[in-house]
Amino acid sequence: MKIDTIEVCTLRSKCHMTKLITSLFFLFLILIFLNIKSSPSLDLYSLSSKSWGLMGRWQRTSKSRNMVSMLQESVTFLPLKDLRFSENPTSGNTWFMSSLNDTQEENEAEHLYFPSDASKGRVLCIKGRDTRDGTKNSYALAWPEALPDLATLLKGLTFVSDTYYNHENLWHGVCATIPFVRWSMKNNCIRPDRWALFHWGELRLKMGSWIEQLMRVNFGEVYVEGFNNGSDIPYCFEKVVIMRHDLGRLGLENKLKVSDHLRCKARKYCEINPIGRGVEVNERGEPIIRFTLLLRRGSRSFKNSTSVTEIFAKECAKIQGCILNVVQSEDLNFCDQVRVMTQTDVVASPHGAQLTNMLFMDRNSSIMEFFPKGWLEHAGAGQYAHHWMANQSGMKHQGAWWDPIGDECPSPKHDAECFSFYKNGKVGHNETLFAEWSRKVIEEVRQGKIEQMSKIKLNPTKDCGCLHS
Ligand SMILES: *[C@@H]1O[C@H](CO)[C@@H](O)[C@H](O)[C@H]1NC(C)=O
Ligand SMILES: *[C@@H]1O[C@H](CO)[C@@H](O)[C@H](O)[C@H]1NC(C)=O
Ligand SMILES: *[C@@H]1O[C@H](CO)[C@@H](O)[C@H](O)[C@H]1NC(C)=O
Ligand SMILES: *[C@@H]1O[C@H](CO)[C@@H](O)[C@H](O)[C@H]1NC(C)=O
Ligand SMILES: *[C@@H]1O[C@H](CO)[C@@H](O)[C@H](O)[C@H]1NC(C)=O
Ligand SMILES: *[C@@H]1O[C@H](CO)[C@@H](O)[C@H](O)[C@H]1NC(C)=O
Repeated sequence: MKIDTIEVCTLRSKCHMTKLITSLFFLFLILIFLNIKSSPSLDLYSLSSKSWGLMGRWQRTSKSRNMVSMLQESVTFLPLKDLRFSENPTSGNTWFMSSLNDTQEENEAEHLYFPSDASKGRVLCIKGRDTRDGTKNSYALAWPEALPDLATLLKGLTFVSDTYYNHENLWHGVCATIPFVRWSMKNNCIRPDRWALFHWGELRLKMGSWIEQLMRVNFGEVYVEGFNNGSDIPYCFEKVVIMRHDLGRLGLENKLKVSDHLRCKARKYCEINPIGRGVEVNERGEPIIRFTLLLRRGSRSFKNSTSVTEIFAKECAKIQGCILNVVQSEDLNFCDQVRVMTQTDVVASPHGAQLTNMLFMDRNSSIMEFFPKGWLEHAGAGQYAHHWMANQSGMKHQGAWWDPIGDECPSPKHDAECFSFYKNGKVGHNETLFAEWSRKVIEEVRQGKIEQMSKIKLNPTKDCGCLHS
């Protein structure tokens, strides 16, 4: 101590001061020493690091509390339906969640998934349950640690579907839901915990009953979210898949895979041999061809179903192995429909919902469709829905017949009026034409079966193309 003092005290004027500082320093050292003795479990390092640690943690907690509330408050809700794109609502990112980019994969429907790398781990939140104005509903991305105030976190996987058309219409409902089935097939056949349905950003509470049944067959119970906590409560999704392009860029091969999968699942659900019939033969070893006349009551029924039945019965009887089955579609429940169509190679039916069941026929089966007068001219492109359906489920649409006979539309210049005039008309028949047409189709199916008989059959997969189903 003395040596230090001497060395430091080269300038006399400052020496006194230095002595004081040095003494204070030693006093401080003694205090620390005593402190260590009185708390033997602590060394000098841990003593100081502990107190600094506490201090730091206190600072950090208040800082991160600030940060969390800053993040919460920075969550920005945008309108679900973006009117800037109302000229072209279905192109690009569409007018639904327009700020978010789709994930594009070759031959797959464009979709969005959150949380993702692209969202930097943020989840999707939706606020609002307006059923009339999509601009009143909104969406945002938020970090799971900083969900907006009052948010309800919906656990598990949610499928969010927005369609420009309609989830209740058979064709459009099928188009809106098929991409989810495909996405699920690619992801170990994972099932959603709920669906949220939108049309132009407006909330919808149900899908058509046939589509819902089909989704139930594939995914189990279908729960459609109603966001019932109130329109100002944000709902955030732990995991969410969003489809807003209907079939979008889903390629034909993949559409066929979905159809095969759904057919297989429906047969399994209804306890029908999922492998299907293959080629049945009669006692003479000839292939059996099952021809089903699928009737409906009311609008678009045949004017005289007895005579239509007679025409097909006569033709069928002329061809070896042909068996006619006449079925009233309204009398069938879902599994009856699946069973009837599993047992059908050719279905002849007026245009209508019952034809959607073509999905349950074996691949390559045939469809003959009948329309009332006036549809060809006034019904627009929608009348081809079963042609499209046949194409994407691997069936052969063998053409349609439009009845040329019937009352004339009273206001032929007005398309919409004429369509409502003809819409619910009935279907007549032309014996010559029906006979020739059905003969040709049955003969073609017979030839196909004979060819198939000579081929080695591949065993279809037992699991409907999914590992965990
Ligand atoms: C979406 O894509 C556009 C154009 O490719 C890009 O400019 C934009 O940053 C993307 N937005 C997000 C949120 O990734
Ligand atoms: C909001 O709804 C969910 C289910 O949809 C429920 O579990 C939750 O308790 C509700 N929260 C409030 C605050 O009512
Ligand atoms: C329907 O057709 C059958 C046989 O083709 C005929 O006997 C019957 O009278 C017809 N019914 C009506 C209501 O025209
Ligand atoms: C469907 O028919 C085509 C020829 O029309 C044939 O090449 C194909 O193998 C058939 N597919 C099945 C699954 O029977
Ligand atoms: C169905 O597919 C066939 C063959 O690929 C094609 O020629 C036809 O135009 C398609 N029909 C419709 C209505 O899309
Ligand atoms: C019935 O169909 C045949 C064959 O296509 C046709 O020649 C005939 O004119 C049709 N009859 C009526 C009444 O339309």
